[in-house]
Amino acid sequence: MAKQDLIIGIFGLGTVGSGVVELIQQQANRLQSKYGLKVTLKAVVVRKISPDRVSLTSPAVLSTDPAIILEDKEINTVIEVIGGIHPAKEYILRALQSHKNVITANKALLAECGVELFEAALRHKCYFGFRAAVTGLQDMLERFYSSISITNIAGVFNGTCNYILTDMEEKGEEFSEALKKAQAAGYAEQDPTLDINGQDTADKLAIISTLAFNSPVQRKDIYTEGIERISLDDIRFARELGYKIKLLGIAGCDGKEIEAKVYPCLIPADNILASLKGVENGIQIDDELRGPGGFKAPGAGKYPTGNAVLFDIINLSNDNPTYIPKEFVYLPVKKIEQMKNQYYLRVAAVNQPGVLARIAGVFQLHDINILSVLQERDNKDKRGEVVPLVIITDTAGEKSMQKAVADIESLAIIKGQATLLRVEERFW
Ligand code: HSE
Repeated sequence: MAKQDLIIGIFGLGTVGSGVVELIQQQANRLQSKYGLKVTLKAVVVRKISPDRVSLTSPAVLSTDPAIILEDKEINTVIEVIGGIHPAKEYILRALQSHKNVITANKALLAECGVELFEAALRHKCYFGFRAAVTGLQDMLERFYSSISITNIAGVFNGTCNYILTDMEEKGEEFSEALKKAQAAGYAEQDPTLDINGQDTADKLAIISTLAFNSPVQRKDIYTEGIERISLDDIRFARELGYKIKLLGIAGCDGKEIEAKVYPCLIPADNILASLKGVENGIQIDDELRGPGGFKAPGAGKYPTGNAVLFDIINLSNDNPTYIPKEFVYLPVKKIEQMKNQYYLRVAAVNQPGVLARIAGVFQLHDINILSVLQERDNKDKRGEVVPLVIITDTAGEKSMQKAVADIESLAIIKGQATLLRVEERFW
């Protein structure tokens, strides 16, 4: 059989899976004429067969039995788009052991067991494509592979969160409204909690930083916060102070240890990442030898993801590299307590004399320098009422800041929970 003849089996027929099936069927002629590539979809395995799916995959076999793919010697390429750790991991390992090429879109799996799968693919000399698992920014894979000196990365990796924050920013829409729209547009994960609590971004950052720094970073190593607590007030205060709020994945490596974190943060409104709108993803890369660089691209949706899988099919047929390092180094990953930042703190405070002095006193106690304070002018008419108060601090240790926030929250003049966000004036 010519290398160009790909006989494909697909695990999964959800949003991504159905997009891939559609694209393979639609683009078969173009794949043949442009790349001399003959692609045949032979089987699709799903957990449960529903009648409306049968016509979608025809004439390929639709089955619930994984052996239909894994034990078929003719199938030389397996596409895994079921998501989750099990049984996706077992299917992929069995496929690689049977010397089948594998293409996956499974972010969670790669964030947890990426290196194990990469090593299995190298051992069995199979193509292992994962472009669909690394955000819409797939061109960065070539960049990572051809660079030996990446020191820092920062990016927007979740389209749903960026869509929500953009809508809040530009249309003054409430969080829940914006989320509903992102779901309706097909951007969100099946369980949108994974988008908004930062887990999806952390999955992607784990894979991206593993490849950027050539050292395994797992999702569990990454301090992660989501955007659930961001209110329209925060968006407005940030704007007044010259910032935008973005959910970022940020990672750095100094050759001795790695720092990796995901959280919503205030970034200068003129920063390139602040300009990303809607479902866009973007990354800024700092490279000791090549200098800074970056990419941006639509980050979510059926076709961008399906197209990433298609690109892996083309890459595979052209014998192109899969961008997996031959060997990994193993560097420790820092804990959040060891990190330092500038902070944005929003509290609800009673509007009366001495409040600011009390709060400033707590910061003084923890040796934290205040850079700016923001209160609304119409507070003048609200003596004795509870009003929002925003403080931006200078760089401080995470531990000191957490203690200061707890102390401030325990003051009688402060009502409810404070909102603490990091300020990233510069990423490195
Ligand atoms: N739910 C993801 C996002 C899809 O919003 O970015 C792409 O991984």
